Amino acid sequence: MNFRYRFFAFLSIFLVVLLLRAPSKAEVLRMIGPEDVGGAWAEVIKRFHERHPLIRVNYISGPWSTDERQNMYIRSFLSGDPVELVYMDVTWTAKFAAGGWLLPLDEWFTPEMQQEFLSGAVKAGYYEGRIYRVPVRADVGMLYYRRDLIPKPPRTWGEFERICQRYSRPPDVYCIVFQGMQYEGLVCDFLEYLWGAGGEVIDPKGRVVLDSPQGLEALKFMRKLIERGWAPKAVLSFQEQHSLSAFSQGKALFMRNWPYAWTILNRQDSPLRGKVGIVPFIHKEGHESVGTLGGWGLGIARGVKEPERAWKFIEFATSTEAQKILHFRRGAVPSRKALFFDPDILKVSPHYRDLYEIVMRARARPVHPDYPRISDTLQKHVSAVLAGVEGPEEALKIMARSIEGTLRGREEGYLKRIAIDYDLRRTLLNTVLFTSISVPLEFILGLLIALLLTAQFRGRSFVRLAVLIPWALPTAVMAMSWQWMFNNPFGVLNDLLVRVGLAERPFDWLSSPSGAMFAAIFADLWKTTPFVVIILLAGLHSIPQELKESISIDGAGPLRRFFHLTFPLLLPFVRVALIFRIIHAAGIFDLIWVLTKGGPADSTRALCIYIYEVAFRYDELGYAIFLTVLFLLALIGMSFLIVRLTTLGYERT
Ligand code: GLC
Repeated sequence: MNFRYRFFAFLSIFLVVLLLRAPSKAEVLRMIGPEDVGGAWAEVIKRFHERHPLIRVNYISGPWSTDERQNMYIRSFLSGDPVELVYMDVTWTAKFAAGGWLLPLDEWFTPEMQQEFLSGAVKAGYYEGRIYRVPVRADVGMLYYRRDLIPKPPRTWGEFERICQRYSRPPDVYCIVFQGMQYEGLVCDFLEYLWGAGGEVIDPKGRVVLDSPQGLEALKFMRKLIERGWAPKAVLSFQEQHSLSAFSQGKALFMRNWPYAWTILNRQDSPLRGKVGIVPFIHKEGHESVGTLGGWGLGIARGVKEPERAWKFIEFATSTEAQKILHFRRGAVPSRKALFFDPDILKVSPHYRDLYEIVMRARARPVHPDYPRISDTLQKHVSAVLAGVEGPEEALKIMARSIEGTLRGREEGYLKRIAIDYDLRRTLLNTVLFTSISVPLEFILGLLIALLLTAQFRGRSFVRLAVLIPWALPTAVMAMSWQWMFNNPFGVLNDLLVRVGLAERPFDWLSSPSGAMFAAIFADLWKTTPFVVIILLAGLHSIPQELKESISIDGAGPLRRFFHLTFPLLLPFVRVALIFRIIHAAGIFDLIWVLTKGGPADSTRALCIYIYEVAFRYDELGYAIFLTVLFLLALIGMSFLIVRLTTLGYERT
């Protein structure tokens, strides 16, 4: 017997070791990029394989949004199985390099080689004096306009407004479409208005100067585009490809986008071929036009075996040959200077000669290891202003405070940091609000239902069972159902309210801050009141019949019976239910994550969602653990307090 145990133990250890040692993803180098439009990357990789048959590259098509692809890379680094070729946006270098996830490329990408590339694109690959990224393609925000409909493109906000007033005909033809969704693209768009008004997020001395008259002008101008109906409300859910599709269908006179769209708009089958012009983005009178610097480059993940192989691919993917393929097939702007004057490229993109100057003047987004966090703050609040749920002044103040907290955060110890962590304060308040409304309501409702269920009536067992159903359903499934029910305008709730005459038009449940908090509390009530019911019902049944009878004989009415007998004897049960419910409500994650993801504008972002993001999006495990421990201590303290209070009441009785 003993021998058999030992044998199996040995066998399992052997198998685990074998599994752990198994070579992962053998010799294949993986990279994650957006959908391979035009098969451009497939062609680059095919040509590379022809030259280097022993090295295999696997292009993984990821989501369009840069943030989501960044999260995919971060997860791969944290998992210990990093994706070998890191195809990075300009804004990722600082974070990835500071995280120790990238291999420095100085020995391969020498200063002489760097000379051949656009200086801004090269600079985006540096972090603390070392280079980690070779630019594959550059990008700069531009204004596209309908050359066939507008006599002269605008340069300033004022000229732009006049054209909108005169030529746009919403809802058939809007004035402009842009990237208004809550994601990185919105930050790029916002910065062009901010810089174009002479503003900044962080000044060269590292001070946060966003909350300024220029910031206000930029936000107000963007909001005005929607308020006046010059941009469709739908831009709130637009990324680059949605804007391009609306513009190609003739739905707008202008579009803010990157230069790649030119190639697509001028394809043989494009209805707008030859009808579109492209100019620098508009700016406020008296200031200059500044495009956001974008672009993509390749780096190597630390820990890759034989990094020379990865370097061979990077060398080829950034060569003149590869950059031309990427340009012709998907309109990518080259990162090699000479290509802006290349006859083949000028033949299809004659504006490239001028584009060179514009790209050279493009401005980079703030460079900081915490850029994802800075960007998240900007995304949330600019989006809230566009949606009309936050005023520009309020949004600017919150953004500035939150970014200040982020910048100072890493320098401070954890304790001090708590004091300046704006996101922590905000999410804590949301959590307290959520808990302090949902738990008492659940108790009142739960107690009423439990009292009703003690009465004798036909079908009581069935009703008792039915009451439990919401509690038995998986939270994620339930939250998804509520998401549909609260939907505007297609949800059943809005439909009912309008039909019954309680509302004139559909209500913005999930896209307004108070509506979203209400929806979250409502869904939670529905889901967890049954839990309170079961516990209180058990308590009610445990009260001895003789006691009830004797207090009735003493002539006590129902109210006196309840307050002098039932409730005090229920206290031990109330105590259990209360502790469970408070712990659960304060630690809410799944319901809100599925229902609203914490939005809009952070109005439902609970503490645990924040802690999760600190750990896995901002990669600050230490701070996340510190917050978790504090949270745990607070819950333990509160549980003691509840026990103390309810015990005193019980003993007195
Ligand atoms: C483009 C840019 C990139 C930017 C992104 C935003 O891909 O090249 O720098 O972050 O758009 O959507």
